[in-house]
Amino acid sequence: MECVEIRGGKPLYGRVEIQGSKNAVLPILAACILHEGTSRIDHCPRIQDVFDTIMILRFLGCRVWWEDQCLAVDASKVSRCKIPAQIASRMRSSVLFLGALLGRMGRAQLPYPGGCVLGSRPIDLHIAAINELGAKVEEKEGCIFAEGRMLKGKEITLRFPSVGATENIILAAARAQGITVINNAAREPEIGELCRFLQKMGVDIREFSGGRIEIAGETCLQDPKHDLVADRIVAGTYLLAAAITGGRITISRMPQEHMETVTALLKNMGIGIEKHGCDVLVDGSRKRRGIELLETAPYPGFPTDLQSPLMALLAVTEGESRIKENIFEDRFKTAQQLNAMGANIKVREKEAVIRGVPTLYGTRVEAGELRGAAALFLAGLIAEGTTTICSCHYISRGYENICGVLTSLGAEIEELCN
Ligand code: UD1
Repeated sequence: MECVEIRGGKPLYGRVEIQGSKNAVLPILAACILHEGTSRIDHCPRIQDVFDTIMILRFLGCRVWWEDQCLAVDASKVSRCKIPAQIASRMRSSVLFLGALLGRMGRAQLPYPGGCVLGSRPIDLHIAAINELGAKVEEKEGCIFAEGRMLKGKEITLRFPSVGATENIILAAARAQGITVINNAAREPEIGELCRFLQKMGVDIREFSGGRIEIAGETCLQDPKHDLVADRIVAGTYLLAAAITGGRITISRMPQEHMETVTALLKNMGIGIEKHGCDVLVDGSRKRRGIELLETAPYPGFPTDLQSPLMALLAVTEGESRIKENIFEDRFKTAQQLNAMGANIKVREKEAVIRGVPTLYGTRVEAGELRGAAALFLAGLIAEGTTTICSCHYISRGYENICGVLTSLGAEIEELCN
């Protein structure tokens, strides 16, 4: 799917079931290689990042197959410790194979990771921590070479609670000698998911309040089976889709306990969000208010991944709203595309001022990264006329069959070949 045409203006109605979480499954797939046996992950999403990770796993020597919604990974024969550049350059999470390969093979070679273009996205915290566990890490000609046959547990304090660095340390520590302690670890729910998966594999790993994680390295592991948590960012995107189109959607499998900051903010804006047993009913038909100031922050703060989709909603919400982006400096690039559709958004450094307009107008826009693409889909759903979104391959990285889901809710969408 390279281009998509959306004829906007249709309120969305119906039910959507939320796919398994992308940001949870990627470190879990890397963790599969720690165990010389078969891991099973239920509710695994069929998204491009998962397909690319499957290619990495197969390249390393794993057998990987689908059993309906469950992905099975047999890592009994891992024979390589190098990640191919072609796949790694598409996906930042390929960096997680640094910790996982060190844990399994004592060596790792991977190209500098790619993924969404969101500013410089350094990996200094990952490398410093892996060094502290006793591995020798070198960066040469755009590649990372790491060697450490016998990693030793250590107390590591992160200067910033980086999600990826926390995951890499956990993966490397799972088979290290002794106990590793991480202070100021990331507290995103996806970290808890990785810990639960590793516990099922037999690793003694504990999460404490205040961002402390303790991992006792283990060499004798067992076959885990894990039911993946639903994707809080995808759920948030469909909440916003109901809101922006003024529709009513029932969301099933929404990870409500991980979304309290998001739902509280949307309720404050005037959007109806009600629990009905395990389902959540979203009512976007009420009048909305803007937001004085929203700041993105590490969990439990407002997720940076929903910042662009929220900006699309604020673009058509009466009054002035402000957003401060504290995590990724380049997340505001989508503002330019929204402005091309008639939005009034001014960006200065980390802050965006959004003056709500009555409507947006369909035109040709270009997606630049995954969550920015989601924001353009939302804008297209409300715009007058036809919006053509190019470079849509970004959205396939994280959203399972988004065109099919939106069509089932009443949107008019056509996928174009080029
Ligand atoms: C993960 C998520 C991404 C989400 C982000 C923040 C995955 C696959 N991706 O990305 O969707 O937006 O968390 O919730 O799970 N930093 C450094 N040095 C480092 C590492 C990070 O300075 O070594 C900085 C980054 O530049 C950024 C901040 O820390 O400003 C957050 O990055 P991090 O938490 O590591 O995000 P990712 O793991 O890349």
